[in-house]
Amino acid sequence: MNTPQPGILLPVPPFARFLTFSLKPAAASRASLRALCAAADGERWVVGLGPALVLALGAKVDGLRPFPNLTGPGFDIPATDGGLWVWIRGDDRGEVFHQSRRAERLLAEAFELDQAVDAFRYLDGRDLTGYEDGTENPRGEDAEVAAIVRTGTAGLDGSSFVAVQQWLHRLDRFEAMSPEEQDNTFGRYRASNEEIEDAPLSAHVKRTAQESFEPAAFVLRRSMPWADGQRAGLVFVAFGASLEAFEAQLRRMAGLEDGITDALFGFTRPVTGAYFWCPGMCQGRLDLSDLGL
Ligand code: HEM
Repeated sequence: MNTPQPGILLPVPPFARFLTFSLKPAAASRASLRALCAAADGERWVVGLGPALVLALGAKVDGLRPFPNLTGPGFDIPATDGGLWVWIRGDDRGEVFHQSRRAERLLAEAFELDQAVDAFRYLDGRDLTGYEDGTENPRGEDAEVAAIVRTGTAGLDGSSFVAVQQWLHRLDRFEAMSPEEQDNTFGRYRASNEEIEDAPLSAHVKRTAQESFEPAAFVLRRSMPWADGQRAGLVFVAFGASLEAFEAQLRRMAGLEDGITDALFGFTRPVTGAYFWCPGMCQGRLDLSDLGL
């Protein structure tokens, strides 16, 4: 049975680089993908394939689809699907940079680097607003159930689907709120990380409470803050055994369920949005046999 790429289940690393590649026109991607399979260990490099790449290979991955373009009152949630996603993870920023160059070189024949976002862990795993992120993540066996496909289907077993969005924070707007308003935006007290029982319905954790969905919408979040000159925010990363749980949460955040939008939109916006399929591993290598590789 295939095993998951280990980086999915491990805690968020101190440093990371999120790379998104598109397929060069008329490129033969198979040789580059074979080279990637040989180099990616699933831990330092977690790899995901986008819907366009799977189509280009003449293959099909059940459950993989393009990211939805959603609109809420005063904001858009853009879809910017990419061909290939590589999450470079490490303990040292310089090493992460060199690994990223290595991945670029390896793929250069068929893939063009569209975006590279440098990310990091902040304190004990907080968003740049200072709120702890990941508290309600499922753990242990529950994390695997939420994030890893176990349907018994060869080729799909051990794989995972991931939703990735780069969010751009307006930190000055957030800092202009009173501490009470800030806590109510998330629905948790920043100081204690306790949930606010009577938080407004727009509070982020009221919008996304995983057990409040029917069926329950559990995901495994591995988001990381990013910063680049004056701009900063969160690379939101959610792994799932399917994309349904993430999409149900996103729709409710956008107000599409009950007209109430997530208070997060008061200070931050997504600027990208993409879905990828992260193949499982067989004998230490990414298993792309279902895609004919
Ligand atoms: C800038 C964007 C975002 C920020 C800063 C953010 C931050 C947070 C924080 C601080 C928490 C509370 C602690 C925790 O349980 O992790 C949380 C919870 C959560 N967030 Fe987000 N989040 C963002 C976007 C999203 C998106 C786009 C989704 C899904 C569509 C999402 C899904 C969740 C879920 C499922 C929970 C746990 C809810 C529960 O079961 O209690 N978040 N987030």
